[in-house]
Amino acid sequence: MHSKKNNRALLQCLALSVYPMMMMMIHLSCVSSSSASTFFKPFNVSYDHRAIIIDGNRRMLISAGIHYPRATPEMWPDLIAKSKEGGADVIETYVFWNAHESIRGQYNFKGKNDIVKFVKLVGSSGLYLQLRIGPYVCAEWNFGGFPVWLRDIPGIEFRTNNAPFKEEMQRFVKKIVDLMREEMLFSWQGGPIIMLQIENEYGNMESSYGQQGKDYVKWAASMALGLGAGVPWVMCKQTDAPENIIDACNGYYCDGYKPNSYNKPTLWTENWDGWYTTWGGRLPHRPVEDLAFAVARFFQRGGSFMNYYMYFGGTNFGRTSGGPFYITSYDYDAPIDEYGLLSEPKWGHLKDLHAAIKLCEPALVAADSAQYIKLGQNQEAHVYRANVLSEGPNSNRYGSQSNCSAFLANIDEHKAASVTFLGQSYTLPPWSVSILPDCRNTVFNTAKVSSQTSIKTVEFSLPLSPNISVPQQSMIESKLSSTSKSWMTVKEPIGVWSENNFTVQGILEHLNVTKDYSDYLWHITKIYVSDDDISFWKTNEVRPTVTIDSMRDVLRVFINGQLTGSVIGHWVKVVQPVEFQSGYNDLILLSQTVGLQNYGAFLEKDGAGFRGQVKLTGFKNGDIDLSKILWTYQVGLKGEFQQIYGIEENEAEWTDLTRDGIPSTFTWYKTYFDAPDGIDPVALDLGSMGKGQAWVNGHHIGRYWTVVAPKGGCQDTCDYRGAYNSDKCTTNCGNPTQTWYHVPRSWLQASNNLLVIFEETGGNPFEISVKLRSTRIVCEQVSESHYPPVRKWSNSYSVDGKLSINKMAPEMHLHCQDGYIISSIEFASYGTPQGRCQKFSRGNCHAPMSLSVVSEACQGKSSCSIGITNAVFGGDPCRGIVKTLAVEARCIPSSSTGFSQI
Ligand code: GAL
Repeated sequence: MHSKKNNRALLQCLALSVYPMMMMMIHLSCVSSSSASTFFKPFNVSYDHRAIIIDGNRRMLISAGIHYPRATPEMWPDLIAKSKEGGADVIETYVFWNAHESIRGQYNFKGKNDIVKFVKLVGSSGLYLQLRIGPYVCAEWNFGGFPVWLRDIPGIEFRTNNAPFKEEMQRFVKKIVDLMREEMLFSWQGGPIIMLQIENEYGNMESSYGQQGKDYVKWAASMALGLGAGVPWVMCKQTDAPENIIDACNGYYCDGYKPNSYNKPTLWTENWDGWYTTWGGRLPHRPVEDLAFAVARFFQRGGSFMNYYMYFGGTNFGRTSGGPFYITSYDYDAPIDEYGLLSEPKWGHLKDLHAAIKLCEPALVAADSAQYIKLGQNQEAHVYRANVLSEGPNSNRYGSQSNCSAFLANIDEHKAASVTFLGQSYTLPPWSVSILPDCRNTVFNTAKVSSQTSIKTVEFSLPLSPNISVPQQSMIESKLSSTSKSWMTVKEPIGVWSENNFTVQGILEHLNVTKDYSDYLWHITKIYVSDDDISFWKTNEVRPTVTIDSMRDVLRVFINGQLTGSVIGHWVKVVQPVEFQSGYNDLILLSQTVGLQNYGAFLEKDGAGFRGQVKLTGFKNGDIDLSKILWTYQVGLKGEFQQIYGIEENEAEWTDLTRDGIPSTFTWYKTYFDAPDGIDPVALDLGSMGKGQAWVNGHHIGRYWTVVAPKGGCQDTCDYRGAYNSDKCTTNCGNPTQTWYHVPRSWLQASNNLLVIFEETGGNPFEISVKLRSTRIVCEQVSESHYPPVRKWSNSYSVDGKLSINKMAPEMHLHCQDGYIISSIEFASYGTPQGRCQKFSRGNCHAPMSLSVVSEACQGKSSCSIGITNAVFGGDPCRGIVKTLAVEARCIPSSSTGFSQI
């Protein structure tokens, strides 16, 4: 162990040694020029025990979580528009400190980090914004959002009553609040920001810090309030949040959550509508019936603000994903998928839910609390009635109406229930909530999904080389003309590659050396092996072994230039047998990070690399303590340093790659490719590669790693009933966790796009291909027992001021993604069809006109609606039986057909 003094001297020397690396990472700070344009008439935001109060009115708010750096600025407008169309009132984002200040004091607000532009886009779309500054954010983001340099501040301890930490935290939080104020983005300035967050789920960690933790909470709260932002602040999962800060709930369910004071409203800052994924993990899915149930229960039981975490998850570009081992995709099974396409039926069913909740808003905000009615053992109603005489913040808007809205819940996990409510009978499916905006008519039930299911394909677009399997080749050969057919390669040196190395005695902590400028840290030494050792190993049939008490995330062991072993894990023991020759042997330990820890107490002490004893065991004269010998350290890769992934000239000496030159370890590859035509999102299929990183036109698209999920543990069918957890309803067992990597369209030009890959373990670049993501199949099943579309109720409501039961029938509504139209109806049956999307079959009852009716209504259109009534299908095909319409339709780009888009 080094003394503190030695460590400091060492750090200075390391800082010098990584200096060129630092230079290459420097971003110039650039704050968007301030503009005085406002988005709203300036309004105040306050709150009472019931709700957030916006411009004097209590509101029920639906919020959509979108993290700006997980998309590109070119994607933001569409994501915000789709959130608005889906029924969101608010957009929520964290602020990512290490994206904005990767070098202390040098701020970066450009490109994906242009938070001002993002907030302005939200404002210009008429939505509000919740800004969760943290600045610790967790978020499966590298180091939870902390810049890695924060560790190096003398005496620092994160997230506790520690002066150096508080000083840095305050400086950054103030920087963001000041920036927002300068840009006129707070509500009282006419901007969209209605709420801010300080810290993040500190309640989970507080007890680890004792009294210091409690003092820190008080400090964080008063520091935040002292910045004069003029809108409410929240702390999530913080049961001891001080007065004037709202404590909020995070989780899969937050109904029944009570804030720590009667003066505070019930807010849900993170409704986990899916979950994140680890390399080698299965893909989680949260069924929309359960998600809708959770949301409806929340509003039923007095909640007033709910944010989907995430509404759009996006992509962990570059090395932004956190750890341990989080993948590049942050799709999250969110209503908008990683590529910006709608995830159906999730998006559509939630849109209907939001419309139903909005129908109840006048009653929900007018009532101070719900009337509770027990309907059965596992069934209950909450009734919200406007108090005609009520005065107070909302009396002008709603106080004069006599509204009544009700939520009827069946929390039985197995059985449907029939209940009587205000003299009428209702059937409630298991684990569901019915929403009655007029206390009489059910407009929506959380378990009755009448939105379409969309099946997305990732279609082959073009290969990066002509060596592809025959059927594919015949498909695309005509497109190949302008695509480069060749790959070039250059080897990454194993070990020292520059003069920026240094030699010291002992094993250094990984992050102290790399400062996270690279995933890679080379440890290089020489081991002398005597003839006696060799014969000792032979006689005793033992092998020398590299033994490390504990390490994360990846270790690769090289002996005399050859990769001899790899160890992968999160603080696992290493026992790696090796083979030496007689005399001096090169021993290289390459320590790698795959996303820094983003959750837990004492993150500043977490670090990476090796811990405890590092030894070579099995020698004749006993173990060799590797922490007592000299090691040469080299940070990063030569290719990283040279920026050989960039579009500018660099010094790399590329040579043509021949087909027998693969697979090869620690190798760079490059080629050029043309962008596929059209506007569909683009993905690179890297399933033929091992592990590494990829860049397109100098943009780092992320780490890739072809690790396979366990064979077992996925469910064939997903039962929405009962409490969700992230192991429920997983898919993709036995397949690589991720093979497609999003390349945002805006990073591509029409032709000659530079793709550079760094491959560690060996793979075949000739099989890399460019794919297009699109929704090609849409299916829907709606029965006579479904409710009419919620939007119809909204219309009737707005006409006569109260809900009326006109003759409304359920409807099927099909739509293709933008730029696509329905080319054909693959299946249509009105009657008793069986099966599910792509596996539909006719039942005993089938209206002969089914296909012609649906084709007539839909073919050649981007969307269509069909009423679920006998009249539409030429009469009742089977009396006394509940009929269902099941349809499978195919969508194709409208440009590829003779149809004109309607
Ligand atoms: C929460 C945290 C979020 C995110 C989420 C899991 O505890 O606040 O930042 O990490 O878990 O996706």
